[in-house]
Amino acid sequence: MIARLQQPRRAQSTAVFFLAILIIIGLITQWLDISIITGSLQKKFLVQDSSSINSEEFDCSLNCSKIPSPVKNDNVESSSGMVCPDYFKWIHEDLRPWKETGISIKMLEEAKNVAHIRIIVVNGRLYTLRYKKVFQTRDIVTIWGILQLLRLYPGRLPDLDLMLECGDRPVIKKRDYGGREASMPPPLFHYSGDESSYDIVFPDWSFWGWPELNIKPWEVLKQEIQRGNTRIKWKDREPYAYWKGNTRVGSERRDLAKCNATDQDDWKARIFEMRWNEEKKQGFKSSDMANQCTYRYKIYVEGVSWSVSQKYILACDSMALIIKPHFYDFFTRSLLPSIHYWPINTNNKCESIKLAVEWGNNYTDKAQEIGRAGSNFVLENLVMDYVYDYSFHLLNEYAKLLKYKPTVPEGAVETCSEALVCSVRGQKKRYRIHSMVKSMSDSPPCNLLPSFEPEDVSVFLERKANLTNQVVLWERGETDSN
Ligand SMILES: *[C@@H]1O[C@H](CO)[C@@H](O)[C@H](O)[C@H]1NC(C)=O
Ligand SMILES: *[C@@H]1O[C@H](CO)[C@@H](O)[C@H](O)[C@H]1NC(C)=O
Ligand SMILES: *[C@@H]1O[C@H](CO)[C@@H](O)[C@H](O)[C@H]1NC(C)=O
Ligand SMILES: *[C@@H]1O[C@H](CO)[C@@H](O)[C@H](O)[C@H]1NC(C)=O
Repeated sequence: MIARLQQPRRAQSTAVFFLAILIIIGLITQWLDISIITGSLQKKFLVQDSSSINSEEFDCSLNCSKIPSPVKNDNVESSSGMVCPDYFKWIHEDLRPWKETGISIKMLEEAKNVAHIRIIVVNGRLYTLRYKKVFQTRDIVTIWGILQLLRLYPGRLPDLDLMLECGDRPVIKKRDYGGREASMPPPLFHYSGDESSYDIVFPDWSFWGWPELNIKPWEVLKQEIQRGNTRIKWKDREPYAYWKGNTRVGSERRDLAKCNATDQDDWKARIFEMRWNEEKKQGFKSSDMANQCTYRYKIYVEGVSWSVSQKYILACDSMALIIKPHFYDFFTRSLLPSIHYWPINTNNKCESIKLAVEWGNNYTDKAQEIGRAGSNFVLENLVMDYVYDYSFHLLNEYAKLLKYKPTVPEGAVETCSEALVCSVRGQKKRYRIHSMVKSMSDSPPCNLLPSFEPEDVSVFLERKANLTNQVVLWERGETDSN
């Protein structure tokens, strides 16, 4: 949505005004959504261990083109003994539309109209072309992530040429493309997708930290959440379902607000409105991480689009109650209802939440097991090494489809880690230094499992639907409670 809003036409000043309001609402939603999670953390100085890299070690007067590329380590074996986590299979799924045809430069360039930036890698060096202004620093942080990937696995990433869209919602709509060669969808990288789009899903910027919202790099935040989890045991947590955020954005959220307990009804949900100004004044004390993990159940609901908060919610060790999402990011498609989370019915949210909480409080072992499985999913399968490996394999498989040899297009500018650290100050600099890959990996990326057969995908999706359906039937009283 934000992508479209960024280019209001000058003449339409009223439209511009409304668009500006929408942008602000969008910004605040993500903000509110997230600040709840990080709250008290932001006061502390992020980088406990920045001593190993000091930005002063960089010669900031050097032009990127003068900095030598990291050299491939020939001692690293060519293949890893480790199989990648299951969710890596979606890489094949996302690239399937181009599997038969490959990707021509013409197809790629069609994405110019919607992409924010083009990223080119030639001989391990990275170049960018900017088409549109991007909200905050999403694009730069994504580039930062790819530069770190090049540091982690020097000499392994093939030459690349890709388009990236940095907005909230998927843009390449399936209905606009028929499948004939002439109307092949342009390959476009993006942070989220949905069933009706062809966007190729790539890890979002939040893994390297979101300085504008004080969300630390995932590696750091993940550890803090894990430490928080040991402080209050599941059984000692409040036996209710917790959510805090901006209830005014999106019908799902407005609807969720109605599930808050009143004198008449107790839906077992505890819904809190995030009041930005008040929270800010108090230094987000009332919305810190410890508070977030003091409830046995945590609700996840989408706002404008997917929310980067899903991983933080799952990591809490509480059973996640996920209101049927419309969007997915690169790992969420492999989450299974009643195994990693409890699915909440959109049409009957309040009843559905109430039953889930009552069930969990009756069968605490099972609810804890689901909470634990959800947490393990993100804490184990979503370590930074795997985020890099996912990016590596996606880019590697994508590069195999290119029918031309990528070259640096006219106007593209080279960029490098040193330049991205030198060009910022304060929080941004700290996040970058902290999320910098310190040395190359001494092992290769995990082994990517072969492609899903289309039948496997439908079996998987059917299994997922069946699991959700079991909960729905149980809610209606048509099956046993366990
Ligand atoms: C870096 O060097 C290249 C090649 O010498 C030159 O084209 C480019 O303008 C320089 N960039 C900056 C930012 O000085
Ligand atoms: C939900 O109820 C609690 C307790 O009464 C209250 O503090 C909170 O503000 C309510 N939330 C909303 C969104 O109205
Ligand atoms: C939970 O246990 C109570 C008391 O035994 C029972 O009345 C209720 O139906 C149970 N609810 C669920 C959802 O299991
Ligand atoms: C889903 O449920 C249907 C009907 O119960 C069953 O026939 C089918 O085998 C199930 N599919 C999977 C993948 O579990």
